[in-house]
Amino acid sequence: MQKKKVDVKICVGTACFVQGGADLLLYNDFLDPEIVERCEIEGSSCLDVCKHVAAGENDKPPYVSIDGKVYGNVTQDRFIKLLSEAVNA
Ligand code: FES
Repeated sequence: MQKKKVDVKICVGTACFVQGGADLLLYNDFLDPEIVERCEIEGSSCLDVCKHVAAGENDKPPYVSIDGKVYGNVTQDRFIKLLSEAVNA
């Protein structure tokens, strides 16, 4: 049976967009096509996490939701790592 695609939402709300979300939208340029193929990637309006107090290094924009779990401070490198893990889970 075909595995369900990983549900990925890149936040493109203002805070995330200006702090790196825009770079993540270029995912076709830096993600392995095989990973892209196994994900359902879309832009999302504010995921509503930016309004809460930032606590640590990984708790700042840009945010990405992967199968419902929200990750912060997602650089292109971190995005590659998170999605590689998600598709192989
Ligand atoms: S703008 Fe991304 S969580 Fe609010």
